[in-house]
Formats: sequence, C-alpha cells, structure tokens
Amino acid sequence: MPVASDEHSLSVGPDGPLLLQDHYLIEQMATFNRERIPERQPHAKGGGAFGVFQVTQDVGPFTRAAVFQPGTQTDVLIRFSTVAGERGSPDTWRDPRGFAVKFYTSEGNLDIVGNNTPVFFIRDPMKFQHFIRSQKRRASNNLRDHDMQWDFWTLSPESAHQVTWLMGDRGIPRTWRHMNGYSSHTYMWINARGERFWVKYHFKSDQGIEFFTQDEGDQMAAVDTDYHQRDLYEHIEAGDFPSWTLYMQIMPFEDAKTYRFNPFDLTKVWPHGDYPLREAGRLTLNRNVTDYHTEMEQAAFEPNNLVPGTGLSPDKMLLARGFSYSDAHRARLGVNYRQIPVNTPRVPVHSYSKDGAMRVQNVSDPVYAPNSYGGPSAVPESTDDGGRWYADGEMVRSAYTLRTDDDDWGQAGTMVREVLDAAARERLVSNIAGHLLNGVSEPVLARAFEYWRNVDKGLGEAVAAQVRAKQGEKDPKAGQQANPARSSMQRKA
Ligand code: NDP
Ligand code: HEM
Repeated sequence: MPVASDEHSLSVGPDGPLLLQDHYLIEQMATFNRERIPERQPHAKGGGAFGVFQVTQDVGPFTRAAVFQPGTQTDVLIRFSTVAGERGSPDTWRDPRGFAVKFYTSEGNLDIVGNNTPVFFIRDPMKFQHFIRSQKRRASNNLRDHDMQWDFWTLSPESAHQVTWLMGDRGIPRTWRHMNGYSSHTYMWINARGERFWVKYHFKSDQGIEFFTQDEGDQMAAVDTDYHQRDLYEHIEAGDFPSWTLYMQIMPFEDAKTYRFNPFDLTKVWPHGDYPLREAGRLTLNRNVTDYHTEMEQAAFEPNNLVPGTGLSPDKMLLARGFSYSDAHRARLGVNYRQIPVNTPRVPVHSYSKDGAMRVQNVSDPVYAPNSYGGPSAVPESTDDGGRWYADGEMVRSAYTLRTDDDDWGQAGTMVREVLDAAARERLVSNIAGHLLNGVSEPVLARAFEYWRNVDKGLGEAVAAQVRAKQGEKDPKAGQQANPARSSMQRKA
C-alpha cells in the first residue's frame, strides 16, 4: 500500500490515542531500534573503496594463483582502519592502521588483511586479546589509559619493534593515501610445479609517505574526526585515484630452516638486503562505496580466504587469525555473512554448508557427501590446502626456537640508528616522552626508560631526560591524569 503520510501517525481524532494497526509507524520505530549492528571489536573505525589490481610483472614462477598471472586485472575492495578507537573515534589518533584488501579473483576471494606496519606487537595469539584490551578502555572509569598501554608493552619486550614504529613518524599517517600496506605475516605461494615459497606482501604508496606530527594529529582530531575518510572519498570523487605498487619478498622454501631470523616471527622483518622487493602489480582505488552499511560496515575480511597457489605459514599469529575472523563475522554479521553481496565471490561457490539465519541463496539436493546424485565433489589433486609443511615435536607452550639474530631489541635498534635521521629521532623521543607524560606512573615509567635503553642506549637516556625535565616543570598531579586526550588538549588550551 502506498504510505499516506510521513508526518502524522494514525490516531482516533486529532487529539486521540494512536492505533496499533498503524504498522508503518511501528515499523519506523522498530527498524530504527535495530539499525546498529555491533562494531568490529578491534578496527571499529574505518572506511575504504573499490578498485582494481593490475599485474605489472611476471611472478608466475612463484605462484600459480590466477590473480598474479601476467595480464590479469582483478576487482578489489579495501578497508582502512584504526585499531583501538570506536566507530566514531578520530582518524588521526596515533595507532597502527588496518590495510585490508579483498581480491575478487576468478578463483574466489583472496583476502590480505594487513596493517600499515610490517611487524606486530606480539608473536603469540594467546596475548592478542590482552593486548587489545590494554589499548582500549579501563573497566572502572571507561577511560583510555596510557599507564595500561605501557604496562602491557614493557612487560612484553617483543613489542619493542612495533612500538618504535608506532611512536615514530609513521604512527600518524597524513592520509590513508600516504601510507604503505604490509601483509606483515609470511604467507606461502605455490607455483604450477608444486614448488613452495615463503612470501611477504608490501603495498607501497605511489603518493609517497607523509605523516602528521603529534600536534598536527591532535589538532586535526579536534577539527575533523573523519579526516582520513573524507580525504579518500574526496580524492576518488575528484578522479584523483590513489594507487599502491605491490612488491613481494620471496624466500625459497628451504631457506626458512636456516635463515638467521625465524621468518615466521611477526615481530621481525626480513631485511631488504636479504630478500629484495620484487614488483608484482599495481592496486588503484577508483570507486567510492555508495552504501556504507552494506559495503563497508558489513564487509568481512578473513586471512583464510585463500585461492589455489597461495597458503598460510607456520606463523602462529596467522594460524590463530584463520579461526578468529570467520568466528567474529559469524558473531557480528551472522553465519551466512558470505552471502552479503560485498563478501560474495564473483564465481560460483560449492559447499555443503546449509541453512542458518539469513541464508538467502538457494541450495539444492543432495545435501550430503558422499552421495550418488551429483552434489559438489572434493578435488583430491588440489593439494595446496591453504599451505602444507612438515611439523613434528612435543606439545609445548612456546613461540619459536631462537635463531642466531633473534632478539626483541635488535631490529628496533637498527631502525632507530640506521633508518631514522636525526630529526626523525628527535621527534621519536618527543612522541615517546609526550605519551609517557600522559598518565604513566611508577613502576611502569621506570620500566619504560629501561625498555628504550634496550632498544638504543642513547634513545632511552634521551627519553628519560625529557620526561624527568618536564615532570620537574609541572604540577606533579598532572602526570597522574588518566585521560591523555584531555590532558593534551588542556596543555594546548
Ligand atoms: P632498508 O634500509 O632496506 O629499509 C628500511 C625501511 O624502513 C625503508 O625501506 C622503509 O620501508 C622503512 N622506513 C623508512 N623510514 C621509516 C620510518 N620513519 N618509520 C618506519 N619505517 C621506515 O633496511 P632493512 O630492510 O635492513 O630494515 C632495517 C629496519 O628498517 C628494520 O629493522 C625495520 O625496523 C625497518 N623496516 C624494514 C622493512 C622491511 O621489510 N625490511 C619495512 C619497513 C621498515 P618501506 O620501504 O617499506 O617504506
Ligand atoms: C580486525 C582478531 C592480528 C589486521 C580484527 C577483528 C578481529 C581480529 C576479531 C575484527 C574482525 C571483524 O569483526 O570484522 C585478530 C587476532 C589477531 C589479530 C586474534 C592475532 C592473533 C592482526 C594482525 C593484523 C591484523 C597481525 C595485521 C597484520 C586486522 C585488520 C582488521 C582486523 C586490518 C580490520 C579488517 C576490516 O577492515 O574489516 N582482528 N587480529 N590483525 N585485524 Fe586483526
């Protein structure tokens, strides 16, 4: 029935009660009450766009995945995000950025759910939930708390490499267009002959790297909480399409056994000098989403969306993510989340999964296997199986056997001494000191100085000196403030 009014409810006379049969009014109230779906647990604030991935160099000798064969062009979806903030939080808070890519390939969906950093804070998934809680809000007062963040970091020395990265210039990208994306994890590639390689994906921004200083980021957070989302949207609307060149680091399968770093430890990079970057293709974003809820909020990325010629690796974090994401989607979007159009592969998918809430695609008999009636059948010669390798050993609770160059501080120290110039090192010291001065108390503070001395003696001394000097200047109570955003804004005011 056409609706008679969008302004007035059906009532018994203009001054009388409302009528229950006004189902249109009831529908307005009921659907409104159900508009929100749970936000993602981490990575709640984000946005992105559609685009294309074009192969530019022949990496066929390393993978038989159709998406990486010469001449291939594939539609993609990207979602960028912050990690700790809620759905309405500012884009320019210091945080790693999510860089999640879904390739709608001719063999099904391939998702590379990476970050704008090549490493991560921890190497064992047992610590992930604790890590995220330490970055979010306290139970008691619902405030974010730097003391909690540094407590976790300084008790987890494997975080040093990523925290160095986070406190440096790239910890606040100027825009999503001006940052790189990394798989961070090691994945597997398998070629047509069945030979296996360990690989890392590097999406390097063709716009170059640009960042906000802490002050610029704070000011932008106050002026425009959605700055990164707006910037991407407006550039794509204006036809100024951002792009990234995909480079791969490729390690022969056997090298992993003897490489000086454990190549599956997510807190380490493979130095470029050991495994140089090889160009593979270009990813260009050229189409904005037109319905944020169906195309972004309900987008479901998962590292176990793999295609033939690709696989996982023994990285324990990656293996745990193989379970965690599809579980998160089942909880947040429902068991049939793959039938939401943005998540649906562009090729037919066959399986025996069936029914459940919101199954909208038809299935037909037979509904079981083995059967005599021609249902989907397994492909025994498909041995990629998400990546296969040999493993044996006693069951233990331990993450990785140490190699010659494995320690928690070494690569972070290399970055400080060999990658950053003097000005970048000064900004690093000031960012760390500013962060510590926002509510970090003893004994965490003393541990933080030691943490930075372990990364680099001079850096640790400089951080300690700057914090102690600033503490001397101000009201001792100021250091106890639990809300970093407020105290930083108060300082500026
Ligand atoms: P390289 O000199 O070949 O690489 C250093 C890399 O550091 C650059 O290529 C760039 O990565 C990145 N970089 C530059 N400035 C910054 C910054 N302000 N913050 C964060 N990263 C920056 O040396 P190695 O490969 O031997 O690595 C040396 C150190 O560099 C590592 O210990 C690691 O901390 C860091 N690094 C290494 C990466 C790798 O995959 N090998 C990637 C990123 C950082 P990019 O080219 O990706 O922009
Ligand atoms: C989002 C778990 C490590 C990148 C998420 C979500 C969960 C999760 C549950 C929310 C998913 C959703 O609701 O859609 C984990 C676990 C990890 C881990 C258990 C380690 C054991 C990592 C690492 C990276 C990463 C190492 C990057 C290399 C992302 C990104 C998103 C995300 C980019 C947002 C995806 C999107 O835009 O929808 N993670 N994560 N995570 N994670 Fe992780």
